[in-house]
Amino acid sequence: MTDSRIRTVAVIGCGIGRSHIADGYRRHPDKFRVLALCDIDERRAAKLADEFFIRRITRSFDEVLRMDDIEIVDICTPPALHVAQILAALAAGKEVICEKPLAGSVAEVDHVIAAEAEAMGRVMPIFQYRFGNGVQKAKRIIDAGIAGRPYLATVETAWKRTPEYYETPWRGRLGTELGGILLTHAIHSHDLLTYLMGPVTTAFAQTATRVNPVEVEDCAVASLVMRSGALASLAATLGSQKEISRLRLCFEHVTFETSQAPYSPGDDPWDIIAASREAENRIAEELASHPFVPSRFEGLMGAYHAALATGCALPATLADARRSLELVTALYHSAATGTVASMPIEAGHPLYGGWRPTPD
Ligand SMILES: NC(=O)c1ccc[n+]([C@@H]2O[C@H](COP(=O)([O-])OP(=O)(O)OC[C@H]3O[C@@H](n4cnc5c(N)ncnc54)[C@H](O)[C@@H]3O)[C@@H](O)[C@H]2O)c1
Repeated sequence: MTDSRIRTVAVIGCGIGRSHIADGYRRHPDKFRVLALCDIDERRAAKLADEFFIRRITRSFDEVLRMDDIEIVDICTPPALHVAQILAALAAGKEVICEKPLAGSVAEVDHVIAAEAEAMGRVMPIFQYRFGNGVQKAKRIIDAGIAGRPYLATVETAWKRTPEYYETPWRGRLGTELGGILLTHAIHSHDLLTYLMGPVTTAFAQTATRVNPVEVEDCAVASLVMRSGALASLAATLGSQKEISRLRLCFEHVTFETSQAPYSPGDDPWDIIAASREAENRIAEELASHPFVPSRFEGLMGAYHAALATGCALPATLADARRSLELVTALYHSAATGTVASMPIEAGHPLYGGWRPTPD
């Protein structure tokens, strides 16, 4: 049975939380109503409340959890707070959305997975880059078996961050941001790689801090071997004057290249180049019934509502968050040891509990 009623939301943290509202919930007035905002910075919450005519604001996360009319708690706070807030929201019987990175280790994700299994609600990690018409066309072609065997991918995340960006105190510090470009920025493009080309088995990475005087890495390169046998190279920097995100994915029968839009590489136009007339015809046939998929938070929240309504799988799951953080862990492990790191990362792996050095 489909339950397509309007869902009520509280947004916790009014930074990127604003985009969740403006580009997500507000685009679906028949699906969501944001009833409450929570931020320890009351002025920031009040400003957003004025902008979107939201009546209820609070500084207290616990108060939100006591609001019986809130179904979805959307966590947009700094990374180090995520796990405790997710666990508390699940314990309060809420549906939970949480910004990336979901956690600071694979062990923490496993803890959240165990808590979700006992809870009424489910947890959707944010991976909004999966939404956009280009990436969804590619996904459909690949899932239909038209692309064939994956050969090789190149993934570039070339963004720009200046000292002003690091004036927000939690950024740039291992204790609060939990990691650098691999965890905070390139996590989106790297998720797109595995979303479209499958899991990674080994990684060799090198990282550096060269752009800003921060504790975390702001440049990284890596070479990967995918479970399929395909190869991938990753390059990420926060020191690019022109910002781009770009994935080029070469399969047996089709090569895909994203747009270069840094923050919406999933949008059209994508280059989708067939290797033969036959592949071209199969793509045309497959895409004939392809519905337009809106970009980023609009697409993600639309799919999220559909999943809540039908009870089917969420558009992004804790398994996706685990896979993403396994790759991050392997990349940090490789960079720290100068060795090739293998996945999956399970209990017993030296970095299962996290990549940050433990204080002496
Ligand atoms: N998906 C994306 O593309 C994307 C983009 C930007 C940021 N993010 C992620 O979103 C999260 C927030 O980033 P941001 O850029 O919005 O940071 P931000 O610092 O601009 O905003 C975070 C807000 O959370 C508030 N806050 C802190 N502790 C709180 C608490 N205990 N209860 C309630 N509110 C609290 C802060 O006052 C602040 O207003 C981070 O995990 C970041 O990595 C994701």
